[in-house]
Amino acid sequence: MSSQADRGRSLFCFYRLLLVAAAAALLLCDEAAAQGTSCGKLLPGQVDPVTVAAVRSATNSSITVDWLPPDRGITGYFYTLSCPSCPTQQHNTTDETFTFRDLNGATEYSFSIQAGLRNCRLSPAFHLSGITYLNKVPGRVHISDVTETSFRARWAASPDVGVEYEVSCAGRVPDTTAVCTGQPSGASVTVTVRPVKTGFPPAPFIHGTALTKLFPIDASLVSLSVRETSIHLTWAASITEGVLYRVTCRRVSTENSTSLPPSKYLSATFSNVQSGEAYNLSVAVTKKGGFHEVVTWLPIQLTKLFGIDPSSAQYSSNETAISVTWQPSSTSGVSYQLTCKRVGSGEVSTASSPTPSATCGSLQSGQEYELRVAVKKAGGFDDVITALSNQLTNGNRGSCATADWLQFNGFCYLLVKGSNGRNLTAAVSDCQRRDPSAHLLWITSQSEMNWVMDYSARNWRLREDYRAQCRDCRFQGDAAWTGLYRDEADGGKFKWLRDNSGINVSVSWLVGPSRPPMNFGLLVDAETRLLWRTYQPEARHFHFCKAPVRVQQPETAKNDAADAAQEKTVRTRCPSAAWSPISRGPGASLQMCYTKIYPGSFPQAREECRRWAPNADILPARSLHGLSRFDRRILFLHVCYIGKKTGKSDS
Ligand SMILES: *[C@@H]1O[C@H](CO)[C@@H](O)[C@H](O)[C@H]1NC(C)=O
Ligand SMILES: *[C@@H]1O[C@H](CO)[C@@H](O)[C@H](O)[C@H]1NC(C)=O
Ligand SMILES: *[C@@H]1O[C@H](CO)[C@@H](O)[C@H](O)[C@H]1NC(C)=O
Ligand SMILES: *[C@@H]1O[C@H](CO)[C@@H](O)[C@H](O)[C@H]1NC(C)=O
Ligand SMILES: *[C@@H]1O[C@H](CO)[C@@H](O)[C@H](O)[C@H]1NC(C)=O
Ligand SMILES: *[C@@H]1O[C@H](CO)[C@@H](O)[C@H](O)[C@H]1NC(C)=O
Ligand SMILES: *[C@@H]1O[C@H](CO)[C@@H](O)[C@H](O)[C@H]1NC(C)=O
Repeated sequence: MSSQADRGRSLFCFYRLLLVAAAAALLLCDEAAAQGTSCGKLLPGQVDPVTVAAVRSATNSSITVDWLPPDRGITGYFYTLSCPSCPTQQHNTTDETFTFRDLNGATEYSFSIQAGLRNCRLSPAFHLSGITYLNKVPGRVHISDVTETSFRARWAASPDVGVEYEVSCAGRVPDTTAVCTGQPSGASVTVTVRPVKTGFPPAPFIHGTALTKLFPIDASLVSLSVRETSIHLTWAASITEGVLYRVTCRRVSTENSTSLPPSKYLSATFSNVQSGEAYNLSVAVTKKGGFHEVVTWLPIQLTKLFGIDPSSAQYSSNETAISVTWQPSSTSGVSYQLTCKRVGSGEVSTASSPTPSATCGSLQSGQEYELRVAVKKAGGFDDVITALSNQLTNGNRGSCATADWLQFNGFCYLLVKGSNGRNLTAAVSDCQRRDPSAHLLWITSQSEMNWVMDYSARNWRLREDYRAQCRDCRFQGDAAWTGLYRDEADGGKFKWLRDNSGINVSVSWLVGPSRPPMNFGLLVDAETRLLWRTYQPEARHFHFCKAPVRVQQPETAKNDAADAAQEKTVRTRCPSAAWSPISRGPGASLQMCYTKIYPGSFPQAREECRRWAPNADILPARSLHGLSRFDRRILFLHVCYIGKKTGKSDS
């Protein structure tokens, strides 16, 4: 626009000059004609110079110049054209206008024009200059190296010399490329470029469009909640504005993937995934308008295994083994591990199985075991552990005096409360009244100490219960007597009342025993834990009793013992140790005593038999039917016997 205005203004000047000059020329020409000369007037013998000339128009490759003839009768013009980097050209013309073609763009040209008259020398030169316009850059602006906030723009070089380029997103640059930074992400950016040169009107723009990339979501800001059959994820928004999110879930090693419809929300749930499988999840950021979506892959997610139903467990046990079967886990491809941990010890036995049953072997008889079943699957899945109810192995089961005693490692423990507690003497006799082998608590190993002090597991509630029920609360008895005492006769050493043995386990004191201690130890409920301290024996507190478990004779052992006793009584009724007793079964009354007589004739045998015992005789063969296989061996012998009645031989 401004260049056109300039051009208009210069044309206006030109024509005004033209009018003035035309008037002057008319006058001169008239005079010349009057004088009849053929050469110029101002300087005699010389043609007058061109005094009015101007550039009428210009393009990127041409300049048109107009001028006025200085004299009448001009026969032609001689002119030269030059520019800083081109050879000088010379031309003749008869017109008062000339268009210089095939010029370089963006170049300033100098012209000199001389007029010629017949028989005269050329006039002095008139000098003027003009510019060609800048060429437009061919083609479009090309975009490359696009990032979220930048891109590179390139264009073809201008054929003109000495130009720079004005780039809409990068300012003025000397080269045919520019990097545009600081752009909005996910935006359509129009880039315009035009060549510029100082002193020349700029060339027209060329255009290009860049689509900046979308910012992906940040994988480290995704939170996942993975359950057996669902995966829920939430993420932080992309930095790019106005985007949607497309979430995809694919089971690893399958082609089958599920994609949720694009949404602006920052969370998604897949609720039909399979338990115990690996899933590959991605969140893609998308935007309408031709933008490429950007995908963020998340770490592989493993759905949880289904545990087993503890109520489906069925148990069987013998002396050394516990077998359990259960309903299989709902997850496919799993295996199981049964763990049996002996209560109150670190002993653990495990058994693995691909089927929903297992047996812990090599267990101890008559012991209680905590059972757990772990559902496992190879491939990095976390085990799912289900606790089952405790089971006992058969056999020698110990027991305590009553059901309210707790058992630990072969001993029974009882906390006795009562409304106001007892003094130390009364506490000892209370324990012994409950179980003759009981005494106030003594502790012989650190694991036993740990068990006793593991307050949380036992819910002993010394403090709460004492305070709730005491009637005479003088002693602030949030405590219970134990069998700990200080032996003043033995340098104040701490010992156990039960057997006066020294304590050989570490004790956590509430008040250090050096302050100075009183003589009897009790366990104080210090709100969150139990601690030891000493006190005076007449104080009334709750108390702890301890007794060994009562080992019951197992069935068979009991029978064996009964048999042995029976045998003993029978033997005493048989004539001597040489005679064996026979009864119909354990505990049944004596049937007979027998002894073997080595082969001989029947009468000799009977005689020998009678010598052993006057009421003995040879056993009749039919009486042998009720005898065991072992006893039948005597068939091959003569058997001398003493029955309930003295039998008569009938064989
Ligand atoms: C132009 O004309 C002059 C005079 O007639 C002559 O001397 C000259 O050689 C011519 N130049 C060209 C380039 O034709
Ligand atoms: C030069 O000017 C002509 C006429 O105006 C135009 O057609 C052409 O495209 C221009 N060339 C360039 C390179 O700008
Ligand atoms: C993917 O799995 C689902 C559910 O099992 C099924 O409905 C769908 O057809 C499967 N798609 C492909 C492509 O296999
Ligand atoms: C998850 O999917 C992506 C894209 O298909 C793939 O590059 C990647 O390897 C996959 N991961 C696994 C563990 O299959
Ligand atoms: C106990 O059961 C296990 C497993 O059923 C078996 O192997 C073992 O022989 C049994 N032991 C006894 C003493 O019966
Ligand atoms: C403590 O003494 C008891 C009985 O004297 C003993 O059985 C036990 O092994 C001892 N414990 C330690 C840890 O020394
Ligand atoms: C201990 O308590 C019993 C029963 O309440 C009582 O007979 C006895 O005198 C008390 N002994 C001491 C030393 O307080």
